Amino acid sequence: MRIAIIGTGYVGLVSGACFSDFGHDVICVDKDATKIGALEQGIMPIFEPGLDQLVARNVAAGRLAFTTELAEGVRGAEAIFIAVGTPSRRGDGHADLSYVYGAAREIAGLLDGPTVVVTKSTVPVGTGDEVERILREVAPGATVSVVSNPEFLREGAAIEDFKHPDRIVVGAEDARAVEMMREIYRPLYLNKAPLLFTSRRTAELTKYAANAFLATKITFINEMADLCEMVGGDVQDVARGIGLDGRIGAKFLHAGPGYGGSCFPKDTLALLKTAEDAQSPLRIVEAVVKVNDARKRAMGRKVLKALGDEPRGKVVALLGLAFKPNTDDMRDAPSIAIVQALEDAGVTVRGYDPESMEQARPIMPAVQLCRSAYEAAEGADAVVLVTEWDALRALDLDRLAGLMRQKILVDLRNIYPPEEVEEAGFAWHGVGRPPRG
Ligand SMILES: NC(=O)c1ccc[n+]([C@@H]2O[C@H](COP(=O)([O-])OP(=O)(O)OC[C@H]3O[C@@H](n4cnc5c(N)ncnc54)[C@H](O)[C@@H]3O)[C@@H](O)[C@H]2O)c1
Repeated sequence: MRIAIIGTGYVGLVSGACFSDFGHDVICVDKDATKIGALEQGIMPIFEPGLDQLVARNVAAGRLAFTTELAEGVRGAEAIFIAVGTPSRRGDGHADLSYVYGAAREIAGLLDGPTVVVTKSTVPVGTGDEVERILREVAPGATVSVVSNPEFLREGAAIEDFKHPDRIVVGAEDARAVEMMREIYRPLYLNKAPLLFTSRRTAELTKYAANAFLATKITFINEMADLCEMVGGDVQDVARGIGLDGRIGAKFLHAGPGYGGSCFPKDTLALLKTAEDAQSPLRIVEAVVKVNDARKRAMGRKVLKALGDEPRGKVVALLGLAFKPNTDDMRDAPSIAIVQALEDAGVTVRGYDPESMEQARPIMPAVQLCRSAYEAAEGADAVVLVTEWDALRALDLDRLAGLMRQKILVDLRNIYPPEEVEEAGFAWHGVGRPPRG
């Protein structure tokens, strides 16, 4: 099948590469000429494990191409996926749908045969109705169906998630669209990935419900971690003790510095706006958003407390800056609020991340970015583990301690056993663990 993908970011590029790997003929379109130029030379605009090989393989096979020309992408396409960004709208937190509607308008003028337009971007309930209205207004004679097919991939494991999804959700309003979507996802369906067909509005809502639920799980365990610290419990054991219950499940129960990234913060906010407009408040999600916002800066205060009475003039090395491992995405990363809190208190911050340094530079201009964890720790008073990259899981703690002025280790991901940290001469601080002797 011939597929066009509009928007070649994390979702569009991974979806396009995977669809072409299934055997479909795919053109990825983006307005960003730098991005497309790089892709044409085999350079990935994002860090995502395995993506470069997947793209190279399918480009070589002639199944995957890139263009900035929408007309070239859309010509002859049977399915057009919209995978443009839906950031928070400045000022009010609603999803900014201008890119989605802009893409719909541009596509409408180019439709040249029966087409299914699929919204893969995360969009509030009712967006598909508006996309359909735009298409029918601009191209009244076109045979077009509008489908919602939200994406659930995780950055850092995007290809695996796309090829082995827990489920594929499709919101379609007519039989032809259902058939087309079945055909597009047939290779996964044969692998027994559940393909859930529902109404377009339900599919749109399902994506937000999933993200809000996951954000709630993270926030729940983070608050439990705070309580553990106050009453002398160990959140690791609490998480294990509840996570082994099949009704609860072990995932997303790791206490840490709060959720960030390109999805949870903006999607929880947008869902609250939908709920507000529908006069059907989601009070649990409201609390989750508030608690998570406060938590990021609270982690900065935790580091300041570990530094002692006079943090001003001290040096802190932050290890891991991206919002999670295996991505270079800095959007709403907890490290940003931590840096702010430390700098506000007169602390000098150094930083190291295996992949996100280029993205971090403009966001935290005063931070001294270093080439390794050890370089960042040189002469520092504290190291803070912010993101649990594999490369940061097996640091030589003795070497690290030997480089530092004061030996304080704040482990915001509970990666290292406290005894090991203390053996290397550090004062240890974790999240939700009992205080040490
Ligand atoms: N990043 C994730 O992990 C993830 C996961 C699931 C869902 N989503 C959702 O998918 C959508 C895309 O997210 P992303 O992270 O891939 O965004 P992104 O910002 O990485 O990429 C969006 C791309 O769309 C391009 N674009 C915008 N308007 C265009 C137009 N009219 N024509 C051509 N290109 C256009 C931009 O230049 C950009 O390259 C969002 O709604 C997001 O919420 C993201």
